Amino acid sequence: MEFHKHLSNTLCTFIFLLITSLIPVFSDSGTIGVNYGRLANDLPPPPQVVQLLKAQGITKVKIFDTDSTVLSAFSDSGIFLTVALPNEQLSSAAADQSFTDTWIQSNILPYHPNTRIEAIAVGNEVFVDPQNTTKFLVPAMRNIHASLLKYDVASSIIVSSPLPSALQNQWRIQNSKMGCTPNDQVAPPLLQTSYPASSGSFKPDLVEPVIKPMLDFINQTGSYLMVNAYPFFAYIANSDTISLDYALFRDNNSGDVDPNNGLVYKSLFEAQTDAVFAAMAVLGFNNVKIVISETGWPSDGDENEIGANAENAAAYNGNLVRRVLSGVGTPLRPNEPLSVYLFALFNENEKPGPTSERNYGLFYPNQQKVYDIPLTAEGSEIQAAAAPPPRGGDLEYTVSKVGMTWCVANEQAGEMRLQMALDYACGKGGADCRQIMPGATCYDPNTVVAHASYAFNSYYQRNGRGSGTCDFGGAAYVVTQRPSFQ
Ligand SMILES: *[C@@H]1O[C@H](CO)[C@@H](O)[C@H](O)[C@H]1NC(C)=O
Ligand SMILES: *[C@@H]1O[C@H](CO)[C@@H](O)[C@H](O)[C@H]1NC(C)=O
Ligand SMILES: *[C@@H]1O[C@H](CO)[C@@H](O)[C@H](O)[C@H]1NC(C)=O
Repeated sequence: MEFHKHLSNTLCTFIFLLITSLIPVFSDSGTIGVNYGRLANDLPPPPQVVQLLKAQGITKVKIFDTDSTVLSAFSDSGIFLTVALPNEQLSSAAADQSFTDTWIQSNILPYHPNTRIEAIAVGNEVFVDPQNTTKFLVPAMRNIHASLLKYDVASSIIVSSPLPSALQNQWRIQNSKMGCTPNDQVAPPLLQTSYPASSGSFKPDLVEPVIKPMLDFINQTGSYLMVNAYPFFAYIANSDTISLDYALFRDNNSGDVDPNNGLVYKSLFEAQTDAVFAAMAVLGFNNVKIVISETGWPSDGDENEIGANAENAAAYNGNLVRRVLSGVGTPLRPNEPLSVYLFALFNENEKPGPTSERNYGLFYPNQQKVYDIPLTAEGSEIQAAAAPPPRGGDLEYTVSKVGMTWCVANEQAGEMRLQMALDYACGKGGADCRQIMPGATCYDPNTVVAHASYAFNSYYQRNGRGSGTCDFGGAAYVVTQRPSFQ
């Protein structure tokens, strides 16, 4: 893969259509939404959050569950909500429509339409879910839709599922590279190829079992594909070849020309999005729309998280908002305004993982801005008049490679404790456990100790080998020799 240097400044100020009486999935100027995550113990109560969102002019919000206090707080707010059925419920939702009937009855119908639920995200990034819930995805989506039809709300609520995008996991992959197989090439979770954008294609093993049926469903029901896109991950995994300007929408030069069609890319975000459009086109789905269900840039990070700082976060999110509000789509679909949900509303202090994970917020829990960017056309006009977005040279960082350490399981802890810690690491902990799932490269030896070592080390590396990240209540310890997991 090859990337280039860039800079762009799409300073466009257009009218942001504030439609509150229709479902404004794609207004003429593109739409900006925000993910409202709540993995924190210091956030304001939901009614205050709704006031904050309204004061910011935000009309679209995505949440990660169907929490009743949150859903109630959005009642009569005029804000459109995307809610979620968590991965843990996918197998039940897939198994039986009576489950989804009940789920809709208790989680949607009591609130909708006073709380304007416009979409249900069924699962989240299931292709990288350590439990591999992939096979439940489409049946669960169908059952949810059938239940919505049954209760006569299917015309106002669409069903989709956020997918992990092309390059997002290179960061996880890089940080969890373990030597189960030397030089293990872990493929990106969704796309087989993503560069140049026009050659985008889905991973072949996902196409027949899940991608095609899902796109069929989306096409038939008038839904859209949800994609989580993080140029940040691609940038930190490839900072030697991707310029910061290209990652931050600051391309000022000639852009990166796609040799297959001559289209010019001035940002990694657009290239990532078009790779998914191209992949859909291969399967004949030329009219399915994409909503970027998560994207963002952290304002702080560990030493090895290159570029995670407030200046870059403000540049990424601010330039993205201007880009979206310009109403111009991507090079492959220029007439299709972008619809994007920023990640996230608040810094969330209970998110595990590297420091960046707790620093994606636009706001601190006390509702002060982490940095000042426009979120609406009005805001972007004021900002544009006041000051052009910052343009700095590439910031220079060095990644320390000395003193490499690894984390392994402590057999003495016993299987039960190891299993609990393993479940945590692969679940909430966010370790990359794909390679220890049945059939994957590091599944054998299939022992709790071996799997735990793999998972603990992934967690440890992802957390920047921070102190306390290789402990798991005594179930793990640090080693200075690269371990083998075979
Ligand atoms: C996950 O499940 C899907 C469908 O059941 C399968 O095609 C895929 O290979 C699985 N992935 C892994 C890593 O086991
Ligand atoms: C970016 O473009 C503007 C306008 O074309 C020009 O004035 C400026 O010097 C350029 N900056 C860089 C770093 O190339
Ligand atoms: C998408 O839906 C439209 C309208 O129902 C249909 O004509 C078209 O064939 C579908 N596309 C694919 C690739 O199935």
